[in-house]
Amino acid sequence: MRPLTLLIALSVSTTVCSAQDEAALHSTMKQIGPLAGGLGKKIAAKDATASADAEKLESLFVEVRKLWEPRVAGDSSDFSKSASEQFNRAAKAITAGQWDEAAAAQKKAGASCMGCHSAHREKAADGTYKLKKP
Ligand code: HEC
Repeated sequence: MRPLTLLIALSVSTTVCSAQDEAALHSTMKQIGPLAGGLGKKIAAKDATASADAEKLESLFVEVRKLWEPRVAGDSSDFSKSASEQFNRAAKAITAGQWDEAAAAQKKAGASCMGCHSAHREKAADGTYKLKKP
């Protein structure tokens, strides 16, 4: 088991909204950021290696969802669910060489990022981001 997976698995089993949850969320987002940015560029360049990136993003959002589920009901869970579904759709489209479909899925996934960030993320005084407390 990789350290991140272990960290997430541990934090899911502990109290909701713990510091571990937030650390796991933060490190997951740090992985998601560059992968998602790279995916858009790869799709635009019709680079078939993008399917692995989309699959990785899909599984990262499954992890995000596990972190969210116990603590926030409703829309936030749907944002991560929608993101993992759209990255799954993108991965399949890339494998099939359907680049327009892949770009559409990537765009929809991007809307989930923005939706969740505007609802649940805030910028701290030092310029870093953190989870907005309800
Ligand atoms: C379910 C909600 C949710 C979704 C969906 C989501 N994010 Fe986030 N994201 C957050 C929260 C909350 C934070 C701030 C917490 C933190 O970074 O510790 C954050 C922080 C980030 C950060 C900042 C990390 C840093 O270095 O401070 C990046 C980059 C990021 N998200 C990228 C993305 C991208 C790209 C997507 C979509 C592909 C996405 N996120 C989707 C909730 C979400």
